[in-house]
Amino acid sequence: MLTVGIIGAGRVADVHAHAISEIPDIDMTGVFDIDADRSQKRAVEWGVRHYDDVDELITSPDNQALLVLTHVDSHLEIANRAIAAGKHVFIEKPVGRNPADIRATADLAARHGVVAMPGHNYAYLPEFFRMKRLVDAGDLGELRALFINYVIKHPEEVAKDYSGVMEEVMIHHTYLSLALLGAPRRVIAGATENGWQHHTEEDQAWMTFDYGRASAHGFCTFGVDDYSSSPWSFVVKLLGTEGTATVDFRTAIFKRPLGTLNEAFVPYEESYRNELESFARAIEGREIPISSMEDAAVAAGVIASAQQARSEGRFVVREDTGGTRW
Ligand SMILES: NC(=O)c1ccc[n+]([C@@H]2O[C@H](COP(=O)([O-])OP(=O)(O)OC[C@H]3O[C@@H](n4cnc5c(N)ncnc54)[C@H](O)[C@@H]3O)[C@@H](O)[C@H]2O)c1
Repeated sequence: MLTVGIIGAGRVADVHAHAISEIPDIDMTGVFDIDADRSQKRAVEWGVRHYDDVDELITSPDNQALLVLTHVDSHLEIANRAIAAGKHVFIEKPVGRNPADIRATADLAARHGVVAMPGHNYAYLPEFFRMKRLVDAGDLGELRALFINYVIKHPEEVAKDYSGVMEEVMIHHTYLSLALLGAPRRVIAGATENGWQHHTEEDQAWMTFDYGRASAHGFCTFGVDDYSSSPWSFVVKLLGTEGTATVDFRTAIFKRPLGTLNEAFVPYEESYRNELESFARAIEGREIPISSMEDAAVAAGVIASAQQARSEGRFVVREDTGGTRW
């Protein structure tokens, strides 16, 4: 049995709590949120202890691991405190903004002999497992093109609680591309002018990764839904010389909300359960998670470079890495 405490009891914590309730080997023991009312409400809802002080939760012998489910600004600082207290940490995406800081947290975890794992849940979509297995076995032949589209309209009152989609959503596109094709040679990225009434962050972004004989193309929007006969919502298509593989959120859907979404896409819901089970197996030393802290560092480097290029009015993010690390 793995005992976990939750730090940050917002929308994504709800999805994690649901996943934990379905995993017999993981038990949630406590919760802390800087919003004390929310923390207390969640503690009652989830039947766990509420903590007034984050360090009390971190050092409590009641948990072996912490799930860090706050926003990006506080992820690494909280994770470092938990690691220093000898706890395993699961850190929601985006793990951080600076690759060096993410690598420092990974090194700290290694020194303390604990697991630090990024919350890269799209890599735990059931169909992505199949895609990755086919790639690793070479069954798709030479990989030539990858397409990843996220098309899910979000109300402005939800979107305003987050940064723009380049950081919040394109991070998924980035770590999925890394898992399939590795680090890109060159990145071209941009965002449209936003379509919100008041929120100032971008609601649509795109990226192209150059891999020489292959390219990866990512797009995401919070601004529109896809009403066509086979809506994208979230799709991945991978084209190889010997075969093709796809991922699609819409293979099963429940008519109820889930986290920030109006519909519960079943593969999306399953991805949370799968990643937490992987976290538990990693702690037992039985598994190396499919997406690593190094992937989180590279992904943060790609996104930070895209943000920098946008602020300078450029589309080309990186011409040639020349073997240097992102
Ligand atoms: N993997 C996914 O598909 C997915 C989906 C949604 C959100 N997320 C990520 O999850 C994280 C949280 O998003 P959310 O949707 O739950 O946001 P949210 O705003 O609903 O919840 C965040 C919670 O963290 C609390 N908080 C903030 N700073 C804190 C601190 N220092 N200590 C303790 N609590 C603190 C807030 O009070 C709030 O309750 C973000 O990094 C977001 O990108 C991931």
